[in-house]
Amino acid sequence: MSTNTFEQNQRQCPLDEDDQIWLFGYGSLIYLTDFPFLESRPASIRDWSRRFWQGSHDHRGTIDNPGRVVTLIEDEGAVCGGLAYRVEATVFKQLDEREKNGYLRVSAEMTFDDGSHATGLTYLATAGNEAWLGEASEIEIARHICAASGPSGSNSDYLLELAVALRELNLHDQHVFEIEKHILKL
Ligand code: BEZ
Repeated sequence: MSTNTFEQNQRQCPLDEDDQIWLFGYGSLIYLTDFPFLESRPASIRDWSRRFWQGSHDHRGTIDNPGRVVTLIEDEGAVCGGLAYRVEATVFKQLDEREKNGYLRVSAEMTFDDGSHATGLTYLATAGNEAWLGEASEIEIARHICAASGPSGSNSDYLLELAVALRELNLHDQHVFEIEKHILKL
């Protein structure tokens, strides 16, 4: 798979321009809302966990010194909390460009706080994409993050802003908070 997934997303996942779609955000989409949306609601997806296992060549690192950013891994019984946005389909051109470093748009079944459900889309990077870094301990991930930065800023700011945003949503994420703890000590 190419590290630039923009074309693949545009080709494989065409959308009707008149549609409104729910987008599930679990990473920078929670706190970096540089795209227009009609509504946002806390939401979660079941059987997935957030992990800092994807490399970032274009935002929080470089090809020579990639950062670490989040993706979702399959995890039966787990619940990953985030924010869902109702967006116009046309917004995906901008988002596909922003998330082109290995992420593909996939279908997501989300649950809102009132227990209602919606099917929408989320961005997923899987093992095998060219920016993939994979599993490491939280302390290793923290050391890696402290040493990376890219055109969108430092990798540690990405993690710290995500941790703050999760707390504001009253979400607990052991993996993220453990890395945050190590970063604040380093
Ligand atoms: C998100 O915030 O949902 C997101 C994470 C990684 C890539 C694209 C979007």
